[in-house]
Amino acid sequence: MNRIACIGAGYVGGPTMAVIADRCPQYTVTVVDVNADRIAAWNSDRLPIYEPGLEEVVFRRRNRNLFYSTDIPAAVRDADVIFVSVNTPTKTFGAGAGQAADLQYIEKTARSIIEYADSDKIIVEKSTLPVRTAQAMSRILHSNTRGLKFQIISNPEFLAEGTAIADLQNPDRVLIGGMDDTPAGQAAIETVIAIYANWVPRDRIITTNLWSSELTKLVSNALLAQRVSSVNSISALCEKTEADIDEVTRAAGRDSRIGAKFLKAGIGFGGSCFKKDILNLAYLCGYYGLPEVAEYWTQVVRINDYQARRFVGNMLSAMFNTVAGKRIAIFGFAFKADTGDTRESPAIAVCRQLLEERAELAIHDPRALGNARLDLESETGVIDYCEDPYAAAASAHAIAVLTDWMSFRELDYRRIFESMQKPAFIFDGRNLLDSAEMYEIGFNVYPIGRKALTHF
Ligand code: UDX
Ligand code: ADP
Repeated sequence: MNRIACIGAGYVGGPTMAVIADRCPQYTVTVVDVNADRIAAWNSDRLPIYEPGLEEVVFRRRNRNLFYSTDIPAAVRDADVIFVSVNTPTKTFGAGAGQAADLQYIEKTARSIIEYADSDKIIVEKSTLPVRTAQAMSRILHSNTRGLKFQIISNPEFLAEGTAIADLQNPDRVLIGGMDDTPAGQAAIETVIAIYANWVPRDRIITTNLWSSELTKLVSNALLAQRVSSVNSISALCEKTEADIDEVTRAAGRDSRIGAKFLKAGIGFGGSCFKKDILNLAYLCGYYGLPEVAEYWTQVVRINDYQARRFVGNMLSAMFNTVAGKRIAIFGFAFKADTGDTRESPAIAVCRQLLEERAELAIHDPRALGNARLDLESETGVIDYCEDPYAAAASAHAIAVLTDWMSFRELDYRRIFESMQKPAFIFDGRNLLDSAEMYEIGFNVYPIGRKALTHF
């Protein structure tokens, strides 16, 4: 049991397999994908995704016990354990559109496994999947007419982008869901435990039944997103009062029952998981006849959309109710710092609204300019994409900080202020900059959930 294949070479499969190969030199790990360009990039000097520490791990193991290939048949045939980490976006058509997960990639993967397998396999679900997908997968796999047996394991991924390698190397927990009612099911669970036990302490490896494991993934993300929406909703109240959201969350978070993490107010959460998983959770609740529960969780997403709209509303009212023809520097487009990923980034909604208001945008992001271009491809209006933050800010009326890149703190804001139109505004959508210092330089500063500092 030492040959692992992974189908899907994306943000989940790529880093996860790199760390498994690194920590388990006795295993051979082959990552396959239908996207030949992506595989070529994994085999090149420029990996297809940016993740701190990823290059180091990949370059250390590649072509030793870590391989990237488009040969899906060979990888399936040769592997004992197959991880499935293909994408499961929200459905855009038909029943459940806008809520349910689109399982076509999962189904295609299951079909290719039965087409190419010639021995029994352990199949590990890595993708974020709705509850009971394992059962559907099992049915497709066992529709094979050659008597092949498949054990399905759910092993959800909890890595966060930007810290993926550290999260994988030192996870809070590894969750392995399986059916332990047969010896083969038990053996499959043990096989997957044995992989992680190479570097994860046993007390951090949790086993549950399949359904609990699948649901835990959705619930973990829903709970994290709920904290962000709760705090963002309170930030609106803070802006109307003398309260300061960062003071409130710092004090509230000191209660060990609440905890300090995931209480940072901002323009809203993004990323490929939070929204998708909550909508999925709501869909499941609706499907099982629990509309009140569905409504409760849907509100977390609504507050998130509201927060981005509210941010643009604040920009407009501060800038004399018009941004038409005004150049606005956008600092950061990625959904969070330390990634080039822009999936569901709140920056997309903010930029679209500003373009609708006929603002001219100058977008700077250290890693996400390529994705920003794709996201805004179909928008009309003036958009300048700037490698250099100073060029983005030059002759702008305002700066909108949309991603919490630490590098934005290091810029020379005196120089930036001199190059801008006056009055110059900073809308700090991540409470990243020192408001008092920016105000001293001459900016009118609008943080989230805190009093604005203005010169007029
Ligand atoms: C998330 C989960 O954290 C991870 O466990 C799961 O496997 C995938 O989804 P990710 O989307 O990569 O990871 O990033 P995360 O750090 O969770 O941030 C999500 C969004 O919430 C970002 O847009 C971030 O800016 C925002 N956020 C986070 C806040 O606005 N405030 C906070 O306090 C924390
Ligand atoms: P995630 O964030 O879940 O990793 P990505 O979109 O980054 O999502 O990666 C998913 C990968 O799965 C993509 O590179 C896609 O090409 C690949 N993929 C989708 N369907 C299949 C399939 N049937 N066989 C092989 N690879 C697939």
